[in-house]
Amino acid sequence: AEAKKAAIAGAIREIPDFPKKGIMFQDVSTLLLDPVAFQYAIDLLVERYRGMDVQCIAGFEARGFVFGPPVALALKVPFVMLRKPGKLPGETVGEEYITEYSTDRIEIHTGAVKPGQRVVLVDDLVATGGTLLAGANLVRKVGGVVVEAACVIELPSLHGRKKLGDLPLYTLIDIDVDE
Ligand code: PRP
Ligand code: MG
Repeated sequence: AEAKKAAIAGAIREIPDFPKKGIMFQDVSTLLLDPVAFQYAIDLLVERYRGMDVQCIAGFEARGFVFGPPVALALKVPFVMLRKPGKLPGETVGEEYITEYSTDRIEIHTGAVKPGQRVVLVDDLVATGGTLLAGANLVRKVGGVVVEAACVIELPSLHGRKKLGDLPLYTLIDIDVDE
């Protein structure tokens, strides 16, 4: 697993001052260009959740849509889209949240998560934890049980793990961003 994590870390590119000055952007687009490292990331997530009676994967637009679906397919469970406002055509429930550099809102289709369903949240990265917390609140609002949140990358200096409180967080690699 450590060799796989090193390959994943090595495939992620850092772009300074994006989308604004002072942000060290972690670019997963280069991980996706490397099918070996990308597969390692998916495999580690699937290994984590096999046998945990996960019934649904919910992923965050946009970058959580890259990592969530392969995990859902491997586990043979539904994938639910958590989308930015106004994108879902059916009846929705929403939740406001604050990220490292913006205020936003996510929405879910009512009925996509069944009451009592055991859900794992998937995203590419946890920074402040605002996105994952909003996702957990949203899934709970529609009756789901949030088992854990999972990300490829954690930025420990932004203390997202602490913000999540009781919600378990599983991440593959830590990246230091010195903020
Ligand atoms: C980024 C990232 C996570 C979130 C993490 O998404 O993909 O979803 O921020 O930040 P947080 O832990 O401080 O909430 P972003 O909203 O920038 O958009 P994208 O995924 O659509 O590119
Ligand atoms: Mg995102």
